[in-house]
Amino acid sequence: MKRCDRLIDVGRRRFLTGAGAMTAGAAAASVLAPEAKAAPGAALVSYPPNRLANVSDLKVNEPLDVAYPDDEAPGVLIKLGTRVPAGVGPDGDIVGFTILCPHKGFPMAYDAADKTLNCPGHYSRFDCERGGQQIWGHATQNLPQYALRVDEKGDIYAEGVDELIYGRLSNVL
Ligand code: FES
Repeated sequence: MKRCDRLIDVGRRRFLTGAGAMTAGAAAASVLAPEAKAAPGAALVSYPPNRLANVSDLKVNEPLDVAYPDDEAPGVLIKLGTRVPAGVGPDGDIVGFTILCPHKGFPMAYDAADKTLNCPGHYSRFDCERGGQQIWGHATQNLPQYALRVDEKGDIYAEGVDELIYGRLSNVL
């Protein structure tokens, strides 16, 4: 029994030593924690802020052809004529979208009558007054919309896109 008691005692000491080391490690980690920086997520994309146009270039309900975030990504700026939630500019009515259909990438056309972008491929339709929400068709996502900013000179900048542009693994190549 004496040998067994000694083994138990050794085991207890090892356990306490290990617990002490763990406590010290945790204390050190909590002291170092404020300096630790989270690594950015792999999907986080840094967008180039591009000037697309000036407010004075736009006419109500007439799309202006642009490209964002690069020349291979055609899109439009539209001054809708009515204030919308994501609209920018003095009247809160300027929005921007890619014109590549999210279904198969056909370039879409604007219909001024109901302020929609329409696909000639399989007829998906997207509401420009509601953030590019799909209102009909085969696409499985809404239309990617630009994050826009207007500066004091009226220059319109795109600073991001809220959905993946058709055919890309990342909007910024
Ligand atoms: Fe637009 Fe199919 S490519 S609906």
